[in-house]
Amino acid sequence: MKSETIVSGARASGKLHIGNYLGALKQWLELQKKETTQCYFFIADLHGMTTSFNPKELSSNTLDVAATYLAAGIDPKKSIFFLQNHVLEHATLSWVFNCLTPLGELYRMTQFKDKAQSEDQANSGLLTYPILMAADILIYKATAVPVGDDQTQHIELARTVARKFNNRFGKIFPEPQTYMRKPLRIMSLTDPEKKMSKTGDEALLMDDEPKEIMRKLKKAVTATEGGKKSPGVENLFLLLEHFGTKEQTDYFRGQQKNDSLKFSELKEILARDIGNYFVEYREKKQELLGKKEYLAEVLADGANRAHKVAAQTLFEVKQKIGLL
Ligand code: TRP
Repeated sequence: MKSETIVSGARASGKLHIGNYLGALKQWLELQKKETTQCYFFIADLHGMTTSFNPKELSSNTLDVAATYLAAGIDPKKSIFFLQNHVLEHATLSWVFNCLTPLGELYRMTQFKDKAQSEDQANSGLLTYPILMAADILIYKATAVPVGDDQTQHIELARTVARKFNNRFGKIFPEPQTYMRKPLRIMSLTDPEKKMSKTGDEALLMDDEPKEIMRKLKKAVTATEGGKKSPGVENLFLLLEHFGTKEQTDYFRGQQKNDSLKFSELKEILARDIGNYFVEYREKKQELLGKKEYLAEVLADGANRAHKVAAQTLFEVKQKIGLL
């Protein structure tokens, strides 16, 4: 019997960069190793529709991200891995939760406020986004949810919804804990004051070939301003700590102390280390993308297993609230 249930979703808005890998994916890989934990991991394709999207991109991004997670080591035998839209119960439960949640609680979500501003015309899904998220989590009676710090307000809302439901209709849901990752800020290569995001030469992608990694690293900003520690250089060290060896870090820190840091040498070693780190991953991903039927089977099997649990929870919910 598993004593802990972990649920987490990932939006599929393009290729994953190494900040995504170190910050999120790697934690999923660690969590799925625990014998006492059942993990549910899914691609949040329904959440992908809350900001402007086009159908071709939605489908190709979803497949690409699914292949990324599997190639990186999500094991569909251990973890239940699926697409959110395949398990219909999420959307039904989210409707139930919509009808229990005052609008005011949604309007004050900071992510909604930010994104509504940058959208031409924000849709209602953007507002009810956290309700669907609460349904994603509670339908599996999750005990913990690993997310980044931008999502803690949403998890808090999921707890509020669980509490409200339990008090009013009888206890079904545990109140899930947030499983915070260690804050890790991998910065943009070209503008190291900003967090790495997905575009252009500022991000190293998990899919980048070693040559491409070298090309981008060569352009990485390392300039120091006004005698301060250069954020660009610290960013390279942070990467070296994760992808290189302790000896390499000590060696370059030594150079740095003597004011003789050779950036070209550091970048070359870093490019090689990162390139090597993802070799197997890249091969596996190419193989998976060449076997679309297999990929579809894995996702269908995951959805089947998730559905069994989700349907049971929804049944309990319907009984409590008087839906025939
Ligand atoms: N909103 C989450 C994010 O942007 C993705 C997500 C959707 C999620 N549903 C979830 C995360 C349920 C955890 C649990 O990262």
